[in-house]
Amino acid sequence: MSRSAHPAGPRHADVLPEGHYSAPPADLNALDPKVWAQTVRRDEHGVLTVGGIDVKQLAEEFGTPAYFLDEDDFRARARAWRTAFGDDADVFYAGKAFLSRAVVRWLHEEGLNLDVCSGGELATALSAGMPAERIAFHGNNKSTGEIRRAVEAGVGRIVLDSFQEIVRVAHIAQELGRRQRVQIRITVGVEAHTHEFIATAHEDQKFGIPLAGGQAAEAVRRALQLDGLELIGIHSHIGSQIFDMSGFEVAAHRVVGLLREIRDEHGVELPEIDLGGGLGIAYTSDDDPREPHEIAKALTEIVTRECESARLRTPRISVEPGRAIVGPTAFTLYEVGTVKPLDGLRTYVSVDGGMSDNIRTALYDAEYSVSLVSRPSDAEPVLCRVVGKHCESGDIVVKDAFLPGDLAPGDLLAVPATGAYCRSMASNYNHVLRPPVVAVRDGEARVIVRRETEEDLLRLDVG
Ligand code: LLP
Repeated sequence: MSRSAHPAGPRHADVLPEGHYSAPPADLNALDPKVWAQTVRRDEHGVLTVGGIDVKQLAEEFGTPAYFLDEDDFRARARAWRTAFGDDADVFYAGKAFLSRAVVRWLHEEGLNLDVCSGGELATALSAGMPAERIAFHGNNKSTGEIRRAVEAGVGRIVLDSFQEIVRVAHIAQELGRRQRVQIRITVGVEAHTHEFIATAHEDQKFGIPLAGGQAAEAVRRALQLDGLELIGIHSHIGSQIFDMSGFEVAAHRVVGLLREIRDEHGVELPEIDLGGGLGIAYTSDDDPREPHEIAKALTEIVTRECESARLRTPRISVEPGRAIVGPTAFTLYEVGTVKPLDGLRTYVSVDGGMSDNIRTALYDAEYSVSLVSRPSDAEPVLCRVVGKHCESGDIVVKDAFLPGDLAPGDLLAVPATGAYCRSMASNYNHVLRPPVVAVRDGEARVIVRRETEEDLLRLDVG
């Protein structure tokens, strides 16, 4: 993004502070459909609505801060992924992005599978009735207790992440008299173009077994020898918030290369390949994500082409989108508490949440947009930083944003595209209570994850 001139305004000097911002949008009341959930609109009074309910009413009923999730949008996105990949492929929603029992039921109804990465996610999935055979269990350090529960439940696959785990899962499966279906997660040496902390397929990292140096081939050798395991495929996940398909192209080429080696050495053609998740969404108007059908077409073509040239039967493909399904479906609603103009710098707008409900800005320098949603405003745009209520100066929700110059305490702000990795990464820092998730559909709103209470906090404090 580029820096550009700030409109002359009474609150600011001519010198602009450092920041990532473009020119203020022509109309601050406009809602870019790229970043907002499908049913979000402004009504005739200029108040934002979702699923037909206005945010003033939602704030009154459910309080702020709160996440509002557009259920129809979630279902539509899940269905679009499912349809795009068709019956010859599997879509596993990555529960780490956001998981609750309602979400599990929607996924089940829409025909998706589920990727879980902890005992807690597994328990949520099972308790909401997701059939175990449609669950994939991930993680670089699953405990023996977690593995045992997953095998006992009969999960469809466990994704093995280390040499130790190959042996651990095999032992537990044998003890239980089972043969567990497994994939081996490999790192293919691809670094997706994204923030360093969330890129996961380059070699210098904790996930997977490196293809380099023959380690992945050795892992396959060991897995094939163990009676407790049925090796069904190879898994690769190359990173997060990816827009460019070329990383997947290299990954597929390398994974198929391993499948060919396996065929040549063992005479076995593994039937599945999983290309992970990581597809990007629009956090701001500058992002241009691809549609699921384009992604499905590109991935299927890449794998088919690679397999043809390796003379292999094309394996069944699976993918694990998390953010791309849930990310755009929710926004966080905050109430403005204070407005503090700093001459020559920017205006600090404090809201009633912060880094405890959205750590992504502080952790990854993530960019978000933000709008005044409880009323329209024609006031001149002012460069703002939306900050939380935590005792930390890095407690920033939106680093650089233009908001109307008449913003005042009591106004409601909404930050779109907070469906993924916000509630799921929420904390109790400063003993701030985690906000609820409210699902909205057809003029009805219902809490699917309730707001934390002080009693919840004190219940854990048993000293
Ligand atoms: N599959 C595997 C094996 C993964 O590790 C992940 C994400 C996914 C699928 C889903 O990726 P998605 O489609 O949601 O990008 N907290 C970070 C993201 C960490 C992602 C870790 N793994 C963030 O807020 O950006």
